Amino acid sequence: MRVAVIGAGVIGLSTAQSIYEQYHSIVTPLIIEVYADRFTPLTTSDGAAGLWQPYFNDKGNGQEREWCKQTFDYLVSCLRSPECVKMGLFLQSGYNLCTKPMPEPMFKDIVLGFRQLTERELKMFPGYNYGWFNTAVMLEGKTYLPWLMDWLAKRGVKFYHRKIGSFTELSKNGADVIINCTGVRSGDLQPDPELKPARGQIIKVEAPWLKHWILTHTGEIYNSPYIIPGSRLVAVGGVFQLGNWNESNDSATHEHIWEQACQLEPSLRHAKIVDDWTGLRPARSKVRLERETILCGTTAVEVIHNYGHGGFGITICKGCAEEAARLFGQILEEKGKAPKAHL
Ligand SMILES: Cc1cc2nc3c(=O)[nH]c(=O)nc-3n(C[C@H](O)[C@H](O)[C@H](O)COP(=O)(O)OP(=O)(O)OC[C@H]3O[C@@H](n4cnc5c(N)ncnc54)[C@H](O)[C@@H]3O)c2cc1C
Ligand SMILES: *[C@@H]1O[C@H](CO)[C@@H](O)[C@H](O)[C@H]1NC(C)=O
Ligand SMILES: *[C@@H]1O[C@H](CO)[C@@H](O)[C@H](O)[C@H]1NC(C)=O
Ligand SMILES: *[C@@H]1O[C@H](CO)[C@@H](O)[C@H](O)[C@H]1NC(C)=O
Repeated sequence: MRVAVIGAGVIGLSTAQSIYEQYHSIVTPLIIEVYADRFTPLTTSDGAAGLWQPYFNDKGNGQEREWCKQTFDYLVSCLRSPECVKMGLFLQSGYNLCTKPMPEPMFKDIVLGFRQLTERELKMFPGYNYGWFNTAVMLEGKTYLPWLMDWLAKRGVKFYHRKIGSFTELSKNGADVIINCTGVRSGDLQPDPELKPARGQIIKVEAPWLKHWILTHTGEIYNSPYIIPGSRLVAVGGVFQLGNWNESNDSATHEHIWEQACQLEPSLRHAKIVDDWTGLRPARSKVRLERETILCGTTAVEVIHNYGHGGFGITICKGCAEEAARLFGQILEEKGKAPKAHL
């Protein structure tokens, strides 16, 4: 059984890991290959701040909420292992600030210690009069991706640095199943009008005195100031520019982000600016995680899509990976490659 995963961001690598974990002892040989034109540290997943937090509202999509919860619970369980340092994983608490009362977010029972802000806390943030505090986890892509690649390489997974132009290319190569984890550029392989870039730009600064994340919510998600301390640097945002494909840093956007963030957290004026980073969130009305049989010439190839994770790809990665692996199990069963009892 030969599986080709396209994409080496957090979604592709997590999916390869879940497929290995669930099936390596059942299917032999199980050959897993990862194809990508960008590897760590050059993927979107590397630049993301790495805070576990989904959008407030799941638009009735309970499945996505469940995948986020599975990821949170998985990561919290990893905190008990010393390995978490190498994964780039740690606990962190912080504030969600709003300018008006809002319904409680769908993740309130997933995170730890969720509660409303008190009057005294709100006084620290002029202009905001409502919000919540909770503890969540940070999973830093720049550390987690190398850890995942190492984990996979040790188990025989092979990596190929190249751009895939069509699914036929991989099926000709002998792939039985193709897993499509291509993030924002999935549309190159098969047009998807629902998938759009939501451009983000982040300023990374040295400000080791900041210990809590602060996210503001004044309209569109992540289009207002946020401050997320990482293990070494603090990520300062943010913008959410839908339809903008430009991956260059923009100086006017930099100024706009910086001025707004310094109003929120005046101590930033003493921070040393270290880096700028621009990334494209794969925005979609919902995650595409489903099977499709594609005809490549006369051969039918099984494809599993796993893309469109917007501004919460790190937050949902493990839950989606487990679901993609479950779909892979269905294919194995249909092909008679695995006894049903195992699936
Ligand atoms: C500014 C910013 C901040 C963010 N902060 C957070 C956060 O704090 N928490 C959070 O959960 N999420 C955050 N996100 C969102 C998160 O970064 C994304 O949801 C996530 O990285 C998507 O992962 P991915 O693996 O699908 O895509 P990517 O990381 O973009 O990986 C896509 C992979 O597919 C490959 N690929 C694509 N097309 C082809 C092809 N044709 N041939 C070969 N390879 C191909 C690429 O080379 C790459 O390896 C943030 C995003 C931005 C922009
Ligand atoms: C692969 O996923 C992308 C989105 O990342 C999508 O646009 C494309 O259509 C998919 N490719 C195929 C062959 O389905
Ligand atoms: C954005 O700026 C940073 C820091 O100056 C730099 O390292 C990075 O390469 C820039 N990105 C692009 C695409 O120019
Ligand atoms: C992308 O943004 C940069 C910085 O603002 C700008 O100089 C460049 O012209 C833009 N590129 C395109 C194709 O718009």
